[in-house]
Amino acid sequence: MRIVSVHAREIMASSGTPTAEIEVKTNRSSGRASVPTGTSTGKYEVNAFVGSAADSIKTFNSEVGPTLLGAEVNKLGDVLSIEKKVEKFIPKIGGNPILCLSYALLRNLNKDVYKIFGGLSIPYQVCNIIGGGRHAEGTEFQEFHVIPMTKDYPRSMDASKRIHSLVGERLKSKRVGLEGAWVSTLGNRKSLEVLHEVAKSVSDETGVRINLGLDVAASEFYKDEKYLYRDKKLNGDEQIEFILDLIKRFNLHYVEDPLHEDDFKGFAELQKKTKCMVIGDDLFATNASRLRPICKGAIVKPNQIGMLHKVIEFLQALGEHGMTPIISHRSGETNDSILADLAVGLETPYIKVSAFGAERIAKMERLKEIYETVKQS
Ligand code: PGA
Ligand code: ZN
Repeated sequence: MRIVSVHAREIMASSGTPTAEIEVKTNRSSGRASVPTGTSTGKYEVNAFVGSAADSIKTFNSEVGPTLLGAEVNKLGDVLSIEKKVEKFIPKIGGNPILCLSYALLRNLNKDVYKIFGGLSIPYQVCNIIGGGRHAEGTEFQEFHVIPMTKDYPRSMDASKRIHSLVGERLKSKRVGLEGAWVSTLGNRKSLEVLHEVAKSVSDETGVRINLGLDVAASEFYKDEKYLYRDKKLNGDEQIEFILDLIKRFNLHYVEDPLHEDDFKGFAELQKKTKCMVIGDDLFATNASRLRPICKGAIVKPNQIGMLHKVIEFLQALGEHGMTPIISHRSGETNDSILADLAVGLETPYIKVSAFGAERIAKMERLKEIYETVKQS
């Protein structure tokens, strides 16, 4: 197939921030995709755009799109080599247009994007139920998760949605943050208590084991070498002790970014002291050159690095270290459900996506659709 047109346009993500949508047409097919944007972005991420999204998109259309006309795209390797050719534009326009182009090219190869990669595995869902940090005014911790431990995806989805609605009732919360998770005025520990109780009752009711997790997003409240809570200031050692105490008390299985994004030593020390999965998000920023085997897993946010071939490289590096990848949505999402396809096709054991709002539900529904298709075949 030969590329005959490439067009990028600006759309609005769920967070109200602008992002890119791209349509690519070949002589035999067409494919469209969009990409998310973050809010609690780490300092080691590639910029989503350079200057304004509008300017970056304009530059993409005038300088990148025309160079692609006539290029052959018949397989994954072609998408990756096209991406490598336009990688040099990232300092000028950011990572989002480049990643978005690769996604649109994938859709030209196959609308069922998960089939392109050769893998086929339904992930467990890490589902954000209570939200604070930079995503909402409430708790210092950014996300409180449940992880239903069943490979029967519709059951997992039902359990997450049920927990989301029961926690909303318990908190009497009328507000949700950027990812559709409830805003809690109870503080970190009390909020965990509520989540723990509700998860237990839904687990008893459904027979599904439900693990609990946290995204502390600690860089967001780390200032002058201290973690700033409303009622206390903790140094690095005290923060580790605080997190270990919560892990024990609430039997947490997953703790993301418990320490700030430069503290490799602290991550290693915490992981040494617990069986809980300690996960690096802002720490590694989906970048193989930042990856070190100091904890059990890493968040994979494709637009943190802005290139699909670098995401694949990061996944390979994680595999070599025996570390677990968790592919993740962002706080500013679009209706594109490609994340679900990537999780299944690239066989990430976990996907992080919350259970509220059309942009999140789109990913859950896509996972359910793939699950049903796979089950029937
Ligand atoms: P972000 O947050 O998309 O706002 O960066 C998500 C996260 O920190 O996991
Ligand atoms: Zn995070």
